[in-house]
Amino acid sequence: MFEARGIDATDKAGFYRELAGQLEALLAGERDAIANAANTAALLFQMMPDLNWAGFYLMREGELVLGPFQGKPACVRIPVGKGVCGAAVARGASVLVEDVHAFPGHIACDSASRSELVVPLIGRDGIIGVIDLDSPTPARFDAADQAGIERIAAIWLAACGETPEPALAKAS
Ligand code: SME
Repeated sequence: MFEARGIDATDKAGFYRELAGQLEALLAGERDAIANAANTAALLFQMMPDLNWAGFYLMREGELVLGPFQGKPACVRIPVGKGVCGAAVARGASVLVEDVHAFPGHIACDSASRSELVVPLIGRDGIIGVIDLDSPTPARFDAADQAGIERIAAIWLAACGETPEPALAKAS
């Protein structure tokens, strides 16, 4: 059985290299998107310091619908363009919010959240969802976290068959 190992969180680049390796091992051989999202959310919430929510919203008939997550119960449906999650879908790019109170339209699911990072999941036919991370600490996330979670998104997409395996992509 897979067991997450402790990672030194003071070296962010090293932390995300190690986290990516653990996620690849965790998802190896499984293509089911929900199962892989559930284990990815659990790994992120277990390993990343200072989070109060980690999970997925998945595109269903043109809007984001709550997927597997760890944290307090959350709002179920988010229209494209609404909140930080909907903004990431509308922009087709990650959104890093240092202070959620200063983000127009932020959707407060957990009043403890102060900063947020949302990374879109871009599959073979377009955006299929987002990974959403919330922290109770203002400015918890920086560019290194964004790059690290974008790598985590790429591993999830590849495991689910949404993009070529990273090894094949490198070879082509
Ligand atoms: N804050 C998000 C909503 C989802 S919760 O944080 C889990 C947003 O503004 O899109």
